[in-house]
Amino acid sequence: MESGLPRASTIDNPTRLAVMISGGGSGLAALLEYQLSEKRCHRTVLVLADSTLAGGLEHGRSNGIRSLGIPLPIEKDKSEQRLAHERLVHDELVSADVEMVVLSGYMRILTPWFVGLWKGRLLNIHPSLLPDFPGAHAHRDVLAAGVGLTGCTVHLVDERVDSGPILAQRQVEVKPDDDESTLQERVKKIEHILYPETLDRYCSGQISP
Ligand code: GAR
Repeated sequence: MESGLPRASTIDNPTRLAVMISGGGSGLAALLEYQLSEKRCHRTVLVLADSTLAGGLEHGRSNGIRSLGIPLPIEKDKSEQRLAHERLVHDELVSADVEMVVLSGYMRILTPWFVGLWKGRLLNIHPSLLPDFPGAHAHRDVLAAGVGLTGCTVHLVDERVDSGPILAQRQVEVKPDDDESTLQERVKKIEHILYPETLDRYCSGQISP
């Protein structure tokens, strides 16, 4: 199944998710724990990373979920390389009958081609209160701006960076002695609650863009 809004799933017929990561995958681990603790209306059937070295792949493997790193293929032309990579990713998603793609710390920007194929069924979590502080260095930018409040945002992915309809947000206080690492850890704790709960509501049709 490709493109368009997701079907409304139930705990007896859960949405088949792929989770895409780039690093340690603490968000993936939290989602798997949530899904495996009781029956949910979504379950993870595939974990993909953009490197075979991504530590988070182990969270999928240790739970018996097909988990693989797909590195960028060797191509001289950068835009051809991105597309070739995404074709490999897309083929895996289709082979695993994936219905929805969950970006969880996936640090590559997806092409309009890929976004177009999965639009409405491609979600991301970003560690700030979007539209404030998009980009790869949200915590650094939050601290540099000196704001007292940050948070996290779950949104549908569109063709622009950290854009697309917002499904849920939660606030997190910035403390005066925070550095990037303490702030990141505090925001992640909230992300680990917000993402699974938002998936419940989106997959079951309780919220729509
Ligand atoms: C999370 O905080 C997520 O919001 C962020 O990367 C971290 C991944 O942590 N994503 C982005 O910054 C995307 N622009 P994890 O690998 O421990 O789950």
